[in-house]
Amino acid sequence: MTTAAEQAAALREQLHHHAHLYYVLDAPTLPDAEYDRLFKQLQQLEAQHPELITPDSPTQRVGGKALDAFVSVRHAMPMLSIRTETDTQASGAQAFDTRVRKELALSESDPAVDYVAELKFDGLAMSLRYEQGVLVQAATRGDGETGEDVTHNIRTIGQIPLRLSHAPAVLEVRGEVYMARADFEALNERQRARIAAGEKGEKTFVNPRNAAAGAVRQLDSSIAAQRPLSFFAYGLGEITPAEQGGPTFATHFELLMALKTWGFPVAEQTCCVQGAAGLVDFHERMGQLRDALPFDIDGVVYKVNRLDWQRQLGFVTREPRWAVAHKYPAQEQLTTVQAIEVQVGRTGKLTPVAKLAPVFVGGVTVTNATLHNEDEARRKDVRVGDTVVVRRAGDVIPEVVSVVLDKRMQDAQIFTIPHECPVCGSLAVREEEEADYRCTGGLFCGAQRKQAFLHYAHRRAVEIEDLGDKLVEQLVDAGVVKTLPDLYHLDFTALVTLDRMAEKSANKVLASIEKSKQTTLPRFIFGLGIRHVGEATAKALARHFGKMDAIMEATLEQLLQVSDVGPTVAQSIRTFFDQEHNRKVVEQLRACGVTWTEGEPTEGASLPLTGQTFVITGTLPTLSRDQAKDMLEAAGAKVAGSVSKKTHCVLAGAEAGSKLDKAIELGIQVINEQGLLALLGHSSV
Ligand code: IVH
Repeated sequence: MTTAAEQAAALREQLHHHAHLYYVLDAPTLPDAEYDRLFKQLQQLEAQHPELITPDSPTQRVGGKALDAFVSVRHAMPMLSIRTETDTQASGAQAFDTRVRKELALSESDPAVDYVAELKFDGLAMSLRYEQGVLVQAATRGDGETGEDVTHNIRTIGQIPLRLSHAPAVLEVRGEVYMARADFEALNERQRARIAAGEKGEKTFVNPRNAAAGAVRQLDSSIAAQRPLSFFAYGLGEITPAEQGGPTFATHFELLMALKTWGFPVAEQTCCVQGAAGLVDFHERMGQLRDALPFDIDGVVYKVNRLDWQRQLGFVTREPRWAVAHKYPAQEQLTTVQAIEVQVGRTGKLTPVAKLAPVFVGGVTVTNATLHNEDEARRKDVRVGDTVVVRRAGDVIPEVVSVVLDKRMQDAQIFTIPHECPVCGSLAVREEEEADYRCTGGLFCGAQRKQAFLHYAHRRAVEIEDLGDKLVEQLVDAGVVKTLPDLYHLDFTALVTLDRMAEKSANKVLASIEKSKQTTLPRFIFGLGIRHVGEATAKALARHFGKMDAIMEATLEQLLQVSDVGPTVAQSIRTFFDQEHNRKVVEQLRACGVTWTEGEPTEGASLPLTGQTFVITGTLPTLSRDQAKDMLEAAGAKVAGSVSKKTHCVLAGAEAGSKLDKAIELGIQVINEQGLLALLGHSSV
């Protein structure tokens, strides 16, 4: 018979093990329900025998009464900060390596210095103290000497082990507590629901860092437990010295690996690199990866790998000479709202846009930020004159994150979306269950007309290379073009009389209009600008029906047969072609000489390349990538962006890079443009 104490110990052991697999390694081997069952078993046992509860028991992650105040903690070893390199260019990394080499008195003939390159996590520094393998204290950095005891909240973080096996008697782990982006979004979603339900004192958070800081500084751990935090370890504080049986490490990387074996999460991007070139390469690679990471970083950190060199380099005022933080351009900045304009899109959608005092954010100067729609604008309550936080991450369009309310002027007016179109004055309506107001003016509305021309002329639609937005603006404003077919009646005289239009450019425009007459069915359908019909749907329609007339005549039921076409899309297509003027546009475009090849319905039928995946890389001699893609897709192939074992064939042109290397490495068939044409049965030109 096992005793209750033994049973409890065995359950704790199992739960610790599975929590590590789940939270740290992201590789659970137990179903969640089974974990919960073990957990409940332990809870019951502890309820019957309260004397068996240990502070490291998994049941103790949330618990205890709320605190009245935080207790100060003096760090056994100070928590230092790192010098920040503000030169965001590669030269910033170069400068650090030069300094290190100089201080270590290395000459040019000495080999490159080994560094550990890490991410600079955007959270809060934390020191975790373990005694005899049990988490006894978690403290914030504070002023570096003294922080606050936040153990009760840190215990709620599943990734932080409550107990370690085979760890030294005293171990302080330093790292960053942060909130993953998805957890942050979900938290804000829950907060919004609470606010909507009228719960008092609730608010949304500006960014994951802010949310993490709020969670860590809760007096009540049950609140912290509802704000999912994560942790990455990146260093050590106090540790049992070697003479008392503690471990010894020669390098920082060894130390990180030890942290990993003790059960702490260490970011997988952390790596050893050589010299300035290695640092620059890491900075660049992580810069590209930044937006795809599941958490925020604000830079990278370089650390001299050899610990004897770290000791030799020492410190200057509280900052080690052996480490530096190399920043990326900030993705959030403060600026002011100069105006709120309402723009009208191709489908008549009214979008409020904040006009901003120019601000450099995310690597570019931003002057506009979308407020999306009425609800969003109201939720953020942005007003003219407000100071706002603007965010631009990657290629995502800039957005207003929040308003700095302290700086709001007293007379700032609440923004309301107009109920008539600011361009044509037609009524703007918001349909039930829709977030947007739409101008009802259709092609009567100049804004919609301009967008309709630009959409038709888009590179991925019918493509009229030289029809840019400035030209469309002039043509529409002057009333020269009203409907799409008018484009094909433009003549030289009409064009040269426009502003900034020389003879040569007028001829170029005419040539590209002429060229656009030869198109494909999917491009033409896409170009018509039917609401909800994007490129993929246009292709699906062309494949399914084969002919334009068949699409125009298709009933709702027939449209619903097309893969990926649901009721909304089907209805939108039907509504479009039910309008006489739209049918007339198609007819007139054909009469102007716009043509494409029609065929038999091909969906379902097997095409020569059905089921095959192609990847296109490099520059082809005569075809553009888009053309090659169209040809491959027309033959039934899928075109993917990256090479994997599933790729059947790589189409490579000049200066093909890593994709070609990978194809060769994986033994995948590689063809050139001529090979493609031969494959598709075209005679080569
Ligand atoms: S090392 C002695 N490594 O950046 C070096 N810090 O001033 C101590 N941080 O708030 C810090 N990621 O919390 C180090 N990979 C990383 C880091 C990192 C983020 C934070 C740290 C502190 C600040 C450094």
